[in-house]
Amino acid sequence: MLTVEDVIRIFPEVEHISDQQMKEHVIRAWQGAMEMSECTDLETVKWTMAVPGLEDTLVQHTRKVTRMAKACACEHGGVNVDLVIAGALLHDVGKVLEYAQVDGQTVTSKTGKGLRHPVSGAGLAMKFDLPYELVHIIANHSKEGDFVTRIPEAILIHHVDFVDFDIAKALLAAKK
Ligand SMILES: [Fe+2]
Repeated sequence: MLTVEDVIRIFPEVEHISDQQMKEHVIRAWQGAMEMSECTDLETVKWTMAVPGLEDTLVQHTRKVTRMAKACACEHGGVNVDLVIAGALLHDVGKVLEYAQVDGQTVTSKTGKGLRHPVSGAGLAMKFDLPYELVHIIANHSKEGDFVTRIPEAILIHHVDFVDFDIAKALLAAKK
């Protein structure tokens, strides 16, 4: 079980959220996700298995997306910065349900074979009574959101997520 202190140590960007309730939503969702997860060590879960050779962890990616999203939100203005930080910290929370860890290796879980992380993450967010806007960001940060009208904070996180994904892929390809 992750303690509040564990979540803040793993994701120090939680402290950048000024609204106390929003902060608590992020902490509770990560605690709940790890309670339900077949992953045993959040800090070593891989970010993605979609690109062989990409070794970044889910925590590294989540923190990078959160810091980039916060910077974009502050520069752009007109969006709720707390919601952007919380949404970025949680956008991939469903990955610990999509994935499992077996002998230290990240593999696709039984749940993950039929539910992508935006779906399981949104389900988890609803289970823990997170606000609609956070459920929406989690559900629609990836291609699932192409079929709905994303709120501005979800548009920002969607693009920043792909900035990291596409650049990581290109850097990896350049090394080969
Ligand atoms: Fe992501």
